Order: sequence, then C-alpha cells, then structure tokens
Amino acid sequence: MPSKFKCVRCGREYEPGSVFRCDCGGLLEVVHEPVKWDRHVVDSRLCPMGAPYSSGVWRYKELIHPGLPARLIVTRPEGNTNVYHRSAVSEYVGVGRLTMKHEGENPTGSFKDRGMTVAVSEALRQGAKTVACASTGNTSASMAAYAAQADLKGIVFIPEGEIAYGKLSQALAYGSKVVQVPGSFDDAMRIVQEASKELGLYLLNSINPWRIEGQKTIIFELLHQRGWEPPDWIIVPAGNLGNTSAFGKALAELVELGWIEKVPRIASIQAEGAAPFYKLWKGGGEELESLHPETVATAIKIGNPVSWEKAIRVIRETDGVVEVVSDAEIMEAKAVVDGSGVGCEPASAASVAGARKLAAAGVIKPDEDVVCVLTGNLLKDPDATVGYHTGKLKGIQARRPNAPTRLDTTSMSASLRRLLRE
Ligand code: F0G
Repeated sequence: MPSKFKCVRCGREYEPGSVFRCDCGGLLEVVHEPVKWDRHVVDSRLCPMGAPYSSGVWRYKELIHPGLPARLIVTRPEGNTNVYHRSAVSEYVGVGRLTMKHEGENPTGSFKDRGMTVAVSEALRQGAKTVACASTGNTSASMAAYAAQADLKGIVFIPEGEIAYGKLSQALAYGSKVVQVPGSFDDAMRIVQEASKELGLYLLNSINPWRIEGQKTIIFELLHQRGWEPPDWIIVPAGNLGNTSAFGKALAELVELGWIEKVPRIASIQAEGAAPFYKLWKGGGEELESLHPETVATAIKIGNPVSWEKAIRVIRETDGVVEVVSDAEIMEAKAVVDGSGVGCEPASAASVAGARKLAAAGVIKPDEDVVCVLTGNLLKDPDATVGYHTGKLKGIQARRPNAPTRLDTTSMSASLRRLLRE
C-alpha cells in the first residue's frame, strides 16, 4: 500500500497531494505501510568499512602515506564526492560527454580537505605543535578545521579584504589565529614561509608535499568511480598549481601500477587577470614570471604560484594545455553550473568556462569525454553570487541574472503571476 498523509490532530488520512493541512486545521504527516525489512540491506548500502578507510583519501593509503600509523590519522572523513552530468552544462560547453566532479562536497567545502588530512596527520607524526598557512581562503578554512580536530594551534595568513566571507568565517569559527596581510596572497605566502622558519611552525600550504599526496586522490577516486576508465580530458582551475601537480603525479603512478593505460590530457585554467602559468606555457619559457593578480575568483587570485615547476612538467607530459578565461566567462559558467542545481564557487567555474573555450577553439572535440573538477562549494562566496544576480558585480554584465524582487502587497497575485511568466 502506498504511503499516506495523516492528520496529527484527528487522524484523518489523505492521498498525498498539495494540501498540507487537514480540514480540521491539524498538520499532516506521512505514514508508511509497516514493512518487514532486513537490516543487512541498509548495512550493505553503507561504505563497507569505518574510518579511516571510509575516507576517499585513506582508502588509497598505500599510495598516499603507507608508513603512517593509523592512530595518527586525522580524518573527517573526506572525499567520496559525487560526479554529476547535467545536460544544461554539457550543452553550454559544447560536448556530449561532460561530467563534473564536485570537490566542494568535502567536509569544509573544498578539495583542500584531501591534502589537509594527510599533511595534518603528518604534522602529528612530526610532533608539531603549531601549524600555519597562507591562503586565498579555502586552505585556511580546511587547516583551521583539521588543526582544531588534532588539537594543534593554527595560524593563517590571508590577504586583507581579499578572501570570501564563507571562508573567513570558517577560519575564525574553527579557532585558528587569523592574520591579515596588507597585500596579495603572494605576500602572505612569502611571510608565512619566513615565519614558519623563524618560529618553527609546521607549514601546511601545498608546497608541503604531503598536501599533494592527499590531492592525488581526486584522480584516484574519479577513476575508481569510472571503473578505471580514464576520460579524454580532465579540466581544473589553476591558482597555486597544487592540483595540476597532484593530478599529473596521480596519473603517472596509476600508469606505473598498471591500473590505467591511457593518460587523460590535463587542461589547467587560469583567470585572465591572474595567469602567470598561462604566460609561461604560451611563451615556452623555463622560468615563471610573477605578476600582480586581479580577478573576481579570489581563490585563484595568485600571481606567483608556488608549484609551477611541477605543474609545467605535468602539462607537457600529459599533452595538456593551459587556458585563460575572463571574469565574465567565469561568472557566466558559474551561473550555468548553479542553475543546473549543482552549484560551485567562482574559481571552480573556471574549469567549465575553460572547457567551453577549448571546445569552441576545436581543442576539445565534441565527442570527447570531459571531466571538469569543481573545486569549491557554492556557499563559500555568497557576495560574488548575489552580486552577479543583482548586477552589482563590478565590471560584469550579468547575462543570466536572477535578482530577487520585492513583494507588491497591493496586487500580490497579479505581480506573482507576472513574475512566474518571466
Ligand atoms: N579552486 C579553489 C576553490 C581554490 O580554493 C583554489 C586554491 C584553487 C581552485 C586553485 O588550486 O592552487 O591547486 O591550483 N586555493 C588556495 C587557498 C590557494 O589558499 O585556498 P591550486
């Protein structure tokens, strides 16, 4: 028998419909037919093992940090992020087979948790008391959470006024000391490296190789989810270049293991105003030249990326490409990803914007299998999202705005009807 609505006051039953209050005025609740059900069915739907192996990072421990004693593992657990296909997004990009791996579904809302669980566990192994990082926001949010869990003191250096509020609020809430640096992320990065040396802080930026080990699992888990069938392309937003480096390392190791044969091409996407890696790749030089970064995607507002040397090798070895996208392209791609119900923060949408640009240029073919990595959660940067939809984002002409409207109380239903017709 199908489920019913039942009044909590008089017990009257209804077929579930769009009326949610009983004739007697009582509230309705759903009641189901009693079933005989074996608990093993629900058990079998759970991840087969508890922590740490239920983590989408520690499941691959032997490939990440084999020697780490299990008692030192600090895990939430992280990973187990979903892969989405949305036709609106693939149509927008212009390829048939496009999926998005949503790293914004990690415990603190970004991929950083994958690297942080490994590096914070290692910090314990090293006997560290205080951990530190510079950040455009997500690293600080993640570090603060893992430091709190591990009972470590945390100190983060952020560019003053430059990080999204969702991220700042996380760092504050989790209890790390937050130091605002007058300047850019690159200044904060320089300062944290000096301070770490001078004060003996354990540095948790992606210059710490353990972070890269953890971030390799984005690739391990993605390919695992695909039955070890690699796509043609993996597209990733690029800032400090930790992910680009980690992805290449992961793929090389999987080939070495014999788990995959084909290596996907990696496309690293930078914001036009913060594209030193693009300039390096395009120019074919051997030295990255730093620059002053400017972009609405504050997560990747970086002019002197630390991991460029690893990353350029990855691009060359995977027959990859580096591309740039404008702020307007980033925000429009974000509006499409958001509007598909998936949602992401601005920097994440650079991957989708980049895929679209590469498809339009014929670099990505319409029948190729493409994975875009979404690096952060929609809720990280509410100012950018609301600013876009209300037309208040400086320098951006919103092409898909969805501004809130004020209720006209004098002719409510007429104005609501008008709104729904739009
Ligand atoms: N996307 C998001 C949401 C990020 O937070 C970052 C980096 C990137 C992409 C770039 O990744 O550095 O591996 O190339 N955020 C760092 C931070 C820099 O401090 O949170 P990358």
